[in-house]
Amino acid sequence: MTKQIEAETLRKWLDTQQPVTVLDIRTDEDRAQWAIPGSVHLNAYEALRAGQPGALADAAFPLDRPVVTVCNAGRVSETAAAMLAERGFDARSLAGGMKAWSLAWNAADVPLQDQSCRVIQVRRTGKGCLSYIVGSDGEAAVIDPSVSPDVYLELANRHGWAIRYVFETHVHADHLSRARELVRQTGAALLLPPQQRVRFAFTAIVDGERMSLGRASLTAMHTPGHTNESTSYVLNDTAVFTGDTLFINGVGRPDLHADPEAARQRARALFASLTHLQALRPEMAVLPAHASEPIAFDGRAVASSIAEIEAWLSGWLVSESAFVDRVTARLPPTPPNFARIVDLNEAGEFPTSDPTDLEAGANRCAVR
Ligand SMILES: [Fe+2]
Repeated sequence: MTKQIEAETLRKWLDTQQPVTVLDIRTDEDRAQWAIPGSVHLNAYEALRAGQPGALADAAFPLDRPVVTVCNAGRVSETAAAMLAERGFDARSLAGGMKAWSLAWNAADVPLQDQSCRVIQVRRTGKGCLSYIVGSDGEAAVIDPSVSPDVYLELANRHGWAIRYVFETHVHADHLSRARELVRQTGAALLLPPQQRVRFAFTAIVDGERMSLGRASLTAMHTPGHTNESTSYVLNDTAVFTGDTLFINGVGRPDLHADPEAARQRARALFASLTHLQALRPEMAVLPAHASEPIAFDGRAVASSIAEIEAWLSGWLVSESAFVDRVTARLPPTPPNFARIVDLNEAGEFPTSDPTDLEAGANRCAVR
């Protein structure tokens, strides 16, 4: 029987730098959407599906390490693993394929000048969702949780923090929020920007409101545009969590759930929000809610600074009308299943069925 490997096991192997060859056998189009960092690509999907015995005959890999074969759902990769096993490789198929991989995560410390707090970036490597746990003096806050509550609980335990707050920057459209589940498990307060979208209880955090956390504090900064309620959170004067308003190389799309005129309206709001963000201290770290590429297991935070952002953003912000034209002309395709994901996030429900069915695929919240 073909050997299998669970996504969580492969995740741990990559996280601990264990020698492994990850062989992606999907088509070029699928690969272009998203991939496992460091994986080797060999487009053998059609040949394997057609049962061609020589599909992987020429493939050569180091013999001193396992080979993990990867496809979209973990079936064709079984055929690939069986072929490689016959050739003497220690081959195994990634159970559930890229769909299962969508839950894989890794973490990175965010380097900060400020010694009163610590920030760990928790990344869903495939989808590029970035969430954060901020700790200070025994207390912690989680921002935009997108992986299982266990992950944040384990990080908090490791650092001796109690999770006091769970913040969301906005109602997400590309992943199912884990905020309510995390709140249920920790008794933390759930803080959301004021809006009439969600249908569950929360504590509204308004523009300028400050929450203290150990020796640090988080201050809400309303930054509408990507969505009307979108809010950034400023940590002391050292970092700003920008949600989907500002990324390290792009800005949030203003068009989800909006007709063309509403999208232009939101783009104008985004222009004002970005102008405010750009006026923050140049040394401040910018910590967004997404990356546009799969995130490597390199322990390096996906982060920028206001000064680095200004280098490209100031050119976008020369005039409001040019900005609106630019942003609305460059909209990426609508994210898959976004309407259903938004609906569940507004209801505060987490599906009892496999969440990866809805969440599969890359993130599409950015305009570049
Ligand atoms: Fe978003």
